[in-house]
Amino acid sequence: MTPTASKAGPASHEASREAARETVQSIYVTALRNTHALEKQAAQMIQRQIERYEHYPVLTQALRLHKSETDQQVARLADLLHGHGEDRSLLKDMVTQTVGNVAALVHSVTGDEVLKNLYTDYSVETYEIAAYTSLIALAEEAGHARDVETLRLSLREEERMAEAVFAQIVPVTQGYVAREARGEKADR
Ligand SMILES: [Fe+2]
Repeated sequence: MTPTASKAGPASHEASREAARETVQSIYVTALRNTHALEKQAAQMIQRQIERYEHYPVLTQALRLHKSETDQQVARLADLLHGHGEDRSLLKDMVTQTVGNVAALVHSVTGDEVLKNLYTDYSVETYEIAAYTSLIALAEEAGHARDVETLRLSLREEERMAEAVFAQIVPVTQGYVAREARGEKADR
């Protein structure tokens, strides 16, 4: 028997299916971990804005709602990771730079802080939409139907928040201009 003939046998088909399953699972868990780290950073970024804004109540209210959603998303991802054998204590200490550069923009206090933050917020929400859409495809591929349900909840929240942030771009910009024109504090 040649090696080629044995590769075509049913046992090796099963082995390659198993290898494919392991590959999907590993990609999925890595993506869960990255998204968990991303959401933790997003929660900090949102909290910082909530604490600073004084003149943009509608935006602040949307951020407040999304802060509590983001905290739930972090917990959901931790639960999913735990379900796939990840150690909760390791998750707590994990630091990644997924949105490090984006978050740094928020920390740089400039004259037009609220405008820059809006652009950042919108890009973070769309980044998250991409991440959850990909995670759902991975969970489906890996056969985790219950994970898909959980991830869809978070995806819907991100879509709502992306719309809410987008809807604030024009009114906040106009409000910013109006305050500046009156010589009032406008940056936050
Ligand atoms: Fe979000």
